[in-house]
Amino acid sequence: MVTTDRGRGEKGTWDIVRVLYAAAEFEPVAKVGGLGEAGAGLVGALRAAGIHVDVVLPRYDDSVRGLDRRPLPVPGWVSPTFVRHGHVAGGPLHLVEFDGIARPHPYVDPATGHGWADNDHRFFAFGAAVAALADRLRPDVVHLNDWHTATALSWLPADVPTVMSIHNIAFQGHADPGWCDALGPRGWAFEHEGACNPMAGAFRLADRLVAVSRTYAEEILGPDAGHGLEDIIATRPGALRGIRNGIDVDSWNPADDQALPMGFDVDDLTGKAVCREELIRRTGLDATSGPVIGMVCRLAHQKGVDLAMTLAPFLESAGARLVLIGDGEPSLLALARHTAQRHPGHVAVVDAYSNDMAHLVVAGSDLLLMPSRFEPCGLTQMQAMRCGTLPIVTAVGGLRDTVIDADVDPHLGTGFMARSASSLDLLDALHRAIRAWSSPGRRAAVQRRGMRTDWSWDGPAKAYRSCYDALVPGAIAPAAVGAPAAAVVDATPGAAAAMAT
Ligand code: GLC
Repeated sequence: MVTTDRGRGEKGTWDIVRVLYAAAEFEPVAKVGGLGEAGAGLVGALRAAGIHVDVVLPRYDDSVRGLDRRPLPVPGWVSPTFVRHGHVAGGPLHLVEFDGIARPHPYVDPATGHGWADNDHRFFAFGAAVAALADRLRPDVVHLNDWHTATALSWLPADVPTVMSIHNIAFQGHADPGWCDALGPRGWAFEHEGACNPMAGAFRLADRLVAVSRTYAEEILGPDAGHGLEDIIATRPGALRGIRNGIDVDSWNPADDQALPMGFDVDDLTGKAVCREELIRRTGLDATSGPVIGMVCRLAHQKGVDLAMTLAPFLESAGARLVLIGDGEPSLLALARHTAQRHPGHVAVVDAYSNDMAHLVVAGSDLLLMPSRFEPCGLTQMQAMRCGTLPIVTAVGGLRDTVIDADVDPHLGTGFMARSASSLDLLDALHRAIRAWSSPGRRAAVQRRGMRTDWSWDGPAKAYRSCYDALVPGAIAPAAVGAPAAAVVDATPGAAAAMAT
């Protein structure tokens, strides 16, 4: 039995009203990548729609002080655990603290570039704390995100429904198999191929599994994107669906963005040219007439930074220039810097990541390159289209669901898509993009379509809401509450093929 009060929905049935949202990141409290950005966007939209959302995060540092602090009951192997109650983005925030959770970076030791050796302990304990907090708050639904929260499923009260969002299945949190015993009565669910695997447990135990785009929901059923978990996911066909992320259209609003030297909108792109000049000036790129190509990403193998660098010799001959901004693997940063040294004026790497500079790169560039090997959703391509920057992407995951190739569909096209993450296919897409961009009429048409698309969280948040509603006894089925077909889909292979985004 769910014990919280619920509101009456449109048709006289019960709708969920209280969600506990657990994650390892949440902007602006803690953000490494898209996980933190996506969570803040979704929670903001749910709260705006009148849903009470409690956010629970690890307390990585003491920047948020003076909060009310209370103990949480946790298993014996976890050191004494406390939760501090505060506010974020207009709603309640709960920060979990115990010995070892506070670190200068959530996952990685900045000195070595490797994950913290005790990440299993840290995040398994965080999961235990999330379960204890859920027992105290008794939400209608617990919404978990990625492996860092998965062990909560071992201890959560059986009557609290759960949703697990899959932002990146490549990260599974593998640990020593001995951990399964420490995870309590449902520890068996976390055993996978001789290891304790939090994501395997999530796929077996969560009531609903949400991949962050419809194509990713299909892809993870296959051996490449499934990263060894595809067989387990295949046992839960009815539980899996794809809901594409949105973006924060207020912070990504080129008409009113403090990070830009001049604003612009779909009817007047004068400001975009000013942003472009400023970007060229600040990065030291050559001021030629060819396009400026931006790249904003975590520096990780997934994102194809190495592939982008193989395009450098071609950029020179096409009069194009590439600017990269991102944080991450030191070897990829070194590769990018080396490429920039060999192609001065044509390739630039921004030294230190800052949100303001990322906004200038996205808004001031003509084209945005996302050569991802896989991409569960991707946010930057949507931010680019919102800013009239034409995306060049690979045909994977959420990139496929958000970008329409303008050569394949000249009437609806919003960008350019490489068939695969190979230098050859990327070069072809880049070449096609430069051709379209060089024709003022085609450029404007493609820009307009991307800028006029609704990239907000409104539709995705409705889809999540209907997903929650479907878990609450007596609530109406998702289809009946008007879930936007564009954003939510059954992930049975092939079932999504006909859905538009
Ligand atoms: C991860 C994925 C990215 C997604 C983000 C938010 O960072 O790699 O594709 O957009 O999570 O869901």
